[in-house]
Amino acid sequence: MDRGSLVGSPQRQSGVRISIIGCGWLGTALAGVWQARGQHELLVTTTRPERLAELQALGLQARLLRGGDTAAMADALAEAEVVVLTLAPGGDRQVDADAYASTYLPTCRSLLELLPQLPLLRQIIYTSSCGVYGDAGGDWIDESTPPQPRDDHAAVLLQTEALLGQTAQPVALLRLGALHGPGRELAPRLARLAGSRRPGDGSTWSNWIHRDDAVAAIDRVLESGFSGTLNVVDGQPVTLRQLMDRVCSSQGLEPVQWTGGSEQTPAANRRIRNTGLLALGVPKPRNVAGPTAQA
Ligand SMILES: NC(=O)c1ccc[n+]([C@@H]2O[C@H](COP(=O)([O-])OP(=O)(O)OC[C@H]3O[C@@H](n4cnc5c(N)ncnc54)[C@H](OP(=O)(O)O)[C@@H]3O)[C@@H](O)[C@H]2O)c1
Repeated sequence: MDRGSLVGSPQRQSGVRISIIGCGWLGTALAGVWQARGQHELLVTTTRPERLAELQALGLQARLLRGGDTAAMADALAEAEVVVLTLAPGGDRQVDADAYASTYLPTCRSLLELLPQLPLLRQIIYTSSCGVYGDAGGDWIDESTPPQPRDDHAAVLLQTEALLGQTAQPVALLRLGALHGPGRELAPRLARLAGSRRPGDGSTWSNWIHRDDAVAAIDRVLESGFSGTLNVVDGQPVTLRQLMDRVCSSQGLEPVQWTGGSEQTPAANRRIRNTGLLALGVPKPRNVAGPTAQA
């Protein structure tokens, strides 16, 4: 897979038939933006009847499916010119690697199987994760850095990228940083650590993207017909210590006490560049530790 190429028209496209497979938190925000502009014809999917009703109540054409169900996928993709894969097994909840494998791989395989029957399809957009990168000892990395998953979850995401990369259609592999935004704000997630004693010194870098900036990135990827691999991060990595200091001081909470030594489960330590994303012409993403981080 090349690092990225632009094959589409730079001006805003309209009336594109788009199927969003796995229309969860990010997918619904994306659908909302396109729907509000009245710009495209959308078909979205969920696995649960209660969410089907929720999506339909938003005025979206919605289907119930699991991606491994090839017949249901054929139905959902029959008219699609663009497919956006925003599926995930558990949102921001922790799930095991088997759940990852049984979500991404069968979906990908049924899409690959169906491709010969989908002559209208001209772009596949898949939201992967920066988790596919390994540790870089705190150095800066970009899309040219070879992925080296450190766990089975990330290995599944990389395997999905590799499967999609085999197709003849343009494929945009978007490696998202950790998502935050409405309903998944950072402060409540980190506040539980306030006042705790933690091993290490909190110097590990983390890489984030606000949900709405991820939506803007996907929108731009569609508009530009981008294919290749793209990091979708805010480009302003922060350490856990910086994030904790900010959350604790803004909420009047006790600071974390870093006790030194090594962390029990060290996270991959790298700072991820978003120069490719900015070159596509997206607005500068907001900084997770900045004043708008809670929005
Ligand atoms: N959250 C993060 O921090 C993060 C970080 C990096 C990358 N990403 C990527 O960003 C994307 C969006 O994440 P999100 O947080 O919006 O996820 P989410 O809220 O959990 O939504 C996932 C969607 O996928 C659907 N789904 C689950 N299993 C499926 C299956 N087997 N077949 C078809 N659909 C299935 C879910 O169905 P229901 O509607 O029934 O729940 C839901 O609509 C994902 O591709 C994820 O890998 C997320």
